[in-house]
Amino acid sequence: MNDKKSILELKNFNLYIQDKQILKEINLPFYKNKVTAIMGPSGCGKTTLIRSINRLNEGIPDIKMTGEMRLYNKDLLEMNAILVRRKIGMVFQRPNPFPTMSIADNVLAGFILNGVRLTKQEKEEIVTGSLEKTGLWDEVKDNLHRKGTFLSGGQQQRLCIARALAMKPKILLLDEPTSALDPKATERIEELVNELKSNVTIIMVTHNMGQAERISDYTVFLYLGELVEYEETATIFDSPKHSRTKDYLTRKFG
Ligand SMILES: Nc1ncnc2c1ncn2[C@@H]1O[C@H](COP(=O)(O)OP(=O)(O)OP(=O)(O)O)[C@@H](O)[C@H]1O
Ligand SMILES: [Mg+2]
Repeated sequence: MNDKKSILELKNFNLYIQDKQILKEINLPFYKNKVTAIMGPSGCGKTTLIRSINRLNEGIPDIKMTGEMRLYNKDLLEMNAILVRRKIGMVFQRPNPFPTMSIADNVLAGFILNGVRLTKQEKEEIVTGSLEKTGLWDEVKDNLHRKGTFLSGGQQQRLCIARALAMKPKILLLDEPTSALDPKATERIEELVNELKSNVTIIMVTHNMGQAERISDYTVFLYLGELVEYEETATIFDSPKHSRTKDYLTRKFG
């Protein structure tokens, strides 16, 4: 199918920390402008997997990775990590706006921290455009000079998504982006993911099965570092092939 173009692909990817194998022979495509949910019990390697995609694990002592991650069919592990992070944005479990920066500067943080000079007009376009995309503009437009930390948790998380979107990433990694949020703020983020996916490929770790079912196109089930099952979301929820997936989805463990 033409719309099923993988922009990122893991091939026989293994990750070891101090001789302990954390991820085992992962083979996984991520399709363009689709949402892929990554599920699995605590400690199965979900965060490690998406941090590897954003090249954030490399400072860990005694880490070893084998196999391949191909971004647009180039070896992601051989690319410049800064360039990788421009193409691939990441949002963490707890909203983490920079506490000393204003709302506007938080949106521009990727440029400021990389020493990229922008004109006043470019800054305004990026701040307005990114905040509009996350539905925050109307809520914060009169307070752009105030610190990001004065916002509610849900607004802070949307600010963090705006900060990632400002760099025009091709891929957005979300690590349990709503686990620290109330149901209303969670619903807003879920709507946002649906809106964003026409322009960006989304990979989202979630423990929330309802959320995976509502907003993802594909679901990955990991268990003890192994990819147990990968399917279209409707298929995996309706008829999981593996007993471990079935047990997890029916909350027998996890
Ligand atoms: N920096 C590290 N040093 C040593 N071990 C690590 C490190 N980071 C992760 N691990 C180990 O890797 C395994 C996977 O951890 P990871 O955080 O990826 O799990 P997870 O699936 O995201 O769990 P959770 O659902 O609790 O967030 C765990 O056994 C963890 O102890
Ligand atoms: Mg995690």
